[in-house]
This record gives sequence, C-alpha cells and structure tokens, in this order.
Amino acid sequence: MKPRTALITGITGQDGSYLAEHLLDLDYRVVGITRRTSSHADGRIQHLGDRVELFGADLLDQTSLLSIVDQVQPDEVYNLAAQSFVTTSWQQPVLTGEVTALGVTRLLEAARLACPTARVYQASSSEMFGNVTETPQNERTPFYPRSPYGISKLYGHWIAVNYRESYGMFVTSGILFNHESPRRGREFVTRKITHQVARIAHGLDRELRLGNLDARRDWGYAPDYVRTMREMLQRAQPQDYVVATGETHSVREFCELAFSEVGLDWEDHVVRDPSLLRPAEVDCLVGDASAARRDLGWTPGVGFADLVRIMVEADVMLVARELERRPTDEPLAAVPKWR
Ligand code: NAP
Ligand code: GDD
Repeated sequence: MKPRTALITGITGQDGSYLAEHLLDLDYRVVGITRRTSSHADGRIQHLGDRVELFGADLLDQTSLLSIVDQVQPDEVYNLAAQSFVTTSWQQPVLTGEVTALGVTRLLEAARLACPTARVYQASSSEMFGNVTETPQNERTPFYPRSPYGISKLYGHWIAVNYRESYGMFVTSGILFNHESPRRGREFVTRKITHQVARIAHGLDRELRLGNLDARRDWGYAPDYVRTMREMLQRAQPQDYVVATGETHSVREFCELAFSEVGLDWEDHVVRDPSLLRPAEVDCLVGDASAARRDLGWTPGVGFADLVRIMVEADVMLVARELERRPTDEPLAAVPKWR
C-alpha cells in the first residue's frame, strides 16, 4: 500500500520535530517546509537525516506554498509554523500577524487550489483564551486574547473554521495548552529556567532573571501532544479540540522544583526583573480536555514533576557536553555535586 504523505510546516520547531518522528514511526512519507536562514536551523531534525524530505518555502510567500502542495499532493497537512513567542509579538506585531495569522490563509489557499482533499491541522493555542472568562477552558469558552500573538492565532483559528464551512474542506484546529520538552526554545520560561538551573549547577552562573512568577500555566510534555494532532485528522468529521493536562502551576512552582532537582534553593538565585514583565499578561490557564479524552483517547503521559525533572536532567547533560567541548586551555568552572 502507498504510504500516506504528511506535509509539516514548522518541522524545525519543537512540535514539528516530534511530530515528524511520530509519523515516521507510523510509516508516513514525511515532507517538511523549511525557510532559508543564513545559519542552519535544523538542529532538532538532523538526527532524522534523509528519512524526511525538506522543501524550501515560507508562510510569507504564497507561490512557494502553492508549488509545494501541488508537487507533494499530501494526504495530511500540519500547519505548525508560526512566530510563536508571545514577547516578540509586541516587538514585531506586523510580522507576527503576517506569519501567524495570514500565513494560515496562504497555506489554506494553497491546499484549496492544489490539493483540496488534503486534511489540514491548524496549531491553535490556549493563548486565544487570554484574559479567561471561565475556568477551566474548553472548546466553547469565549476567546479574549491578550497579545498580538494571541490575536494572530485567533485569526488563524477562525480562518480554519471558515475554510471548513465555506469549502467543505477537512480542516481542524487543536487548541493546545503549553507543552514543553528538552527541545523547547530557550526563550520560553520553562526552558529558560531549566537551562539556567543547569548552568548554575555547573558553576557557570549565579542568577536567573525572571518576570512574573505568579503566572500559571497548564504545562504538559510535547511528545504526548503531537500524537493528538494526527488523531484529529483521523476522525470521520473535522472538529476542534482542547488538549491540556487539566492542572495548573505557577512559574514560581516550576522554579522551586527545577532548582530542587539539583539540590539548590531557588530563592538564592532567582532575581525578579521588571523589564521582563509583559505589557498585558495572561494570568492563569487551565484546560478541560474532556472531549479529547472521549474522542481521541487523549491522556497526558508525563506529569508536572516528571516534566521538570526530564528537562532539568537534559539541560544538565547538555551543559556538561558543552563544557567538554571547550578549548583545553580555557579554565573550567568548578562542577559542583548537585545530588
Ligand atoms: P517553535 O518551536 O517556535 O517552532 C516554530 C516553527 O515555525 C519553526 O520551525 C520555525 O522555523 C517556523 N517558522 C517561523 N516562521 C516561519 C515562516 N515565516 N515560514 C515558515 N516557517 C516558519 O514552536 P512550537 O512550540 O513547536 O509550536 C508549534 C506550533 O504550535 C506553533 O504554531 C505555536 O504557535 C503553536 N502552539 C505551541 C504551543 C506550545 O506550548 N509549544 C501551544 C499552543 C500552540 P525556524 O526553525 O526557521 O525558525
Ligand atoms: N518567556 C518568559 N521569560 N516568560 C516568563 C518569564 C521570562 O523570563 N518570567 C515570567 N514569565 C511568564 C510569562 O509572563 C508567562 O506568563 C509565562 O511565564 C509563560 O511564558 P512563555 O513560556 O513565554 O509561554 P507563553 O505561555 O507566553 O506562550 C507559550 O504557550 C502558548 C500556549 O498557551 C508559547 O509556546 C505559545 O506559542 C503558545 O501558543
């Protein structure tokens, strides 16, 4: 039987890399879109080698998307590409809108014109709930985004609904709550904490500067979440789903646990930096994933404490490897024992 073909935008990102692995395990032909950069951005997928096919394209460029969808004729399209960092969305609101909002329309147009039978997954976000109007949040909770990123995601969400309703295309959105891993970008708070904990444990730094410690998020483990993306495209009818753990924890709690993993007290190292506060904050997110549990068999495999441990351990090892690669004439900082 011919293998199913999946086209992934954002394949070089955290989720794209885990999704590619998952689909390869299921014998898919996996094609990814990468954009041209002056230095290589393929660190998260290098290990996959030629098991994935890569094409150059950009969510900003309609022709490139149309051409690739036409050539590849995918059975499934996963739109994971975005300017995904909330802080940057205030610094670059127009770019964020172009990529994260209008980019969705460009990709949907490519699918509509070149391969209308493709099933399309749109990466929607719990940031759309923003200043939440009810707790926990489910698929019927009204949206109230609080950043140019959240607003762009809301546009992407509704244009996906609109292509489904206007053209009868199989388009579905996963409203995913925060999900993390050792592959998380270092600008996001969880990875910023675990990477800095590792540097402090190795004696390379003393401080971790953070903004709002009271913010609460529903944090899960990214490899668990990418499986639900595929499940959504296997349903008889397209439908949007919230995917979340149902637990919420503060940035402070994350810090406490992360530092305790290496035997340190977070209060000795964390410095509150007002310049890291956001112009408008999302105070507390927690999802109700009952529909995903019922229809998709969703269950979060990794809990909060294990997530923190997995990330700290990975960063401690990463920093140790970085230290080993230093030139031999450079003095090594003392490596303390943390257990
Ligand atoms: P990520 O690590 O930031 O990855 C973003 C990907 O988008 C990267 O591959 C990036 O390519 C690509 N990209 C950015 N601009 C592009 C453009 N103009 N054209 C083509 N590709 C472009 O994000 P993630 O955490 O994997 O998240 C995946 C998706 O889920 C995103 O849409 C995000 O907004 C959404 N989401 C994430 C979470 C979460 O907690 N992780 C929760 C809800 C929704 P480069 O490598 O070249 O930069
Ligand atoms: N990044 C960062 N850096 N966040 C900090 C810091 C800091 O130094 N200090 C406190 N925070 C707080 C932020 O104010 C926010 O309330 C919370 O930590 C989480 O921030 P991020 O990790 O940057 O993630 P996010 O919740 O804003 O957005 C992520 O999750 C969304 C899903 O809800 C991103 O992955 C989005 O792309 C995704 O849609």
